[in-house]
Amino acid sequence: MVPGSRTPEPPGPAKEPSAQVPEIARVCNGLPCTLRGAEGVRRDLEGHGTACSGAACLGYCDHGPVVEREGRYFAVRNGAEVEIEESLPSHVESHRQTLGEYRASGGYSALLAHLNGGDPEDLIARAERAALRGMGGAGFPTHLKLRSLRSAHSQDRVLLVNAHEGEPGTFKDRVLMERNPHLLLEGCLLAALSVGAREIVIATKPEYANAVASLEEAQEELKAFVQEEGIADDLPPRTLRIVPGSYVTGEETALIEAVEGHRSEPRLRPPFPTESGLAGRPTLVQNVETLTLLPGLMMPGASSHAPKVFCVSGDVSRPGAYQETLGITVTELLTRDGGGLPAGLKAFLPGGLSGGILPAEAAPLALEFDAVRSAGAGLGTGAVIAIGGDRCILEPVSSIASFFAQESCGKCVPCRLGTRKLDLLVRSLRNGTASEDDVAEGIATAQLLSEASLCALGQAAGKVFRDAMHHFGTEVLAHTRSECPAGRCPLEGS
Ligand SMILES: Cc1cc2nc3c(=O)[nH]c(=O)nc-3n(C[C@H](O)[C@H](O)[C@H](O)COP(=O)(O)O)c2cc1C
Ligand code: SF4
Repeated sequence: MVPGSRTPEPPGPAKEPSAQVPEIARVCNGLPCTLRGAEGVRRDLEGHGTACSGAACLGYCDHGPVVEREGRYFAVRNGAEVEIEESLPSHVESHRQTLGEYRASGGYSALLAHLNGGDPEDLIARAERAALRGMGGAGFPTHLKLRSLRSAHSQDRVLLVNAHEGEPGTFKDRVLMERNPHLLLEGCLLAALSVGAREIVIATKPEYANAVASLEEAQEELKAFVQEEGIADDLPPRTLRIVPGSYVTGEETALIEAVEGHRSEPRLRPPFPTESGLAGRPTLVQNVETLTLLPGLMMPGASSHAPKVFCVSGDVSRPGAYQETLGITVTELLTRDGGGLPAGLKAFLPGGLSGGILPAEAAPLALEFDAVRSAGAGLGTGAVIAIGGDRCILEPVSSIASFFAQESCGKCVPCRLGTRKLDLLVRSLRNGTASEDDVAEGIATAQLLSEASLCALGQAAGKVFRDAMHHFGTEVLAHTRSECPAGRCPLEGS
């Protein structure tokens, strides 16, 4: 491993070998990094004496494979490490938008109009007309949540911005915060003012240091702007909270627990956060991207094409976050934005690890909530992960099964045990030691997970396995005879 752009240690007095502390690195194990050679990176590092641990997802899937050392993030390219300083060029913005640039493109005019006598109902009505749905994964109609908070019994309402994205393949919120921080702040203010929230809390994760720096700078710029405009006192205060945690921390009730300083485990519902959330207050939990879509709704002549940031990763030439419209096909997204598929396409995940997996023949699919659902999958966050033509289907399936087993918080038994059982099954399939009966038991486990888990993590954990059996059953079952048709699995004795 050649440490590319990392600053070499200055020459110093020779140390006794026994006094040397081994270097430590966290290697991202998320599916996009795994598809781009994370296991080889780890072997190389360990071969050179670096102590390594795995990370479920570091959130830099567009740069994979990625390694973290002491809070700094490095993309590994041909054995060299290059520090990640900002997002890759993509269709979101080519650079971080300053306040001046944002204002020049009409930014904050919706906020000023609202403060000059705008009707708080207007934003909600526009969200309803545009059929805006949440971009955090569940796709819940946004106007229903806004309206529910607006009619909450208590006036002590709060907006909690969910900026904790942790699902492999999803990095759009990071890119939006890095590049469009004012768009997010204006969206937060519009939402908070419409529902009467007294406070805005933006909760993100320590891995997003560049996004945090961008937001902090934008907060300072905004403070100066609202003072100049004389509107500082009319706006709810905004706090940025950096909350460590795993994938489940992004689940809205687990995030509330984490922000309150507790262990981040999902809560039983009801009550829903809109009734009793952060510190028992009515809480609007909204995803970063959802909030960035609100200022556009308030612009005169707002486009009828719903904008959406798609994250493209996996076996494509050009991973990145691409601003498109809902309804673009998978083929268009992977070829035009993703730059094509060097080894062809075997399968794809249309909506991150929770949304299922579809075969290449489905690639003309329009990426839109209802169309993806009709195809038997979920749009989720719009994270499209391409699986190349030369892969065994069990490569993504095993990475996903081990992610869910690692990320289950353990609060409920079906998820705690079921995710581990599926993980072990897929490993044994890849080793050629599983039987057809084991596969049948795996299908039953996946079904149980979907029916008996408390939160959507467990409910989605078996979907990819079931989809793989549905679309690639012959290939999966070949492994019970110690055959891997793609020749990619480490079958015992073969
Ligand atoms: C395991 C799990 C992880 C989640 N992670 C996130 C996340 O990182 N960001 C997010 O906005 N929503 C996440 N969600 C969805 C949230 O629970 C919630 O639906 C969302 O924040 C609501 O915002 P929206 O309506 O704008 O999408 C997650 C859900 C689950 C079950
Ligand atoms: S389904 Fe899994 S992640 Fe969700 S609460 Fe139960 S154990 Fe935790």
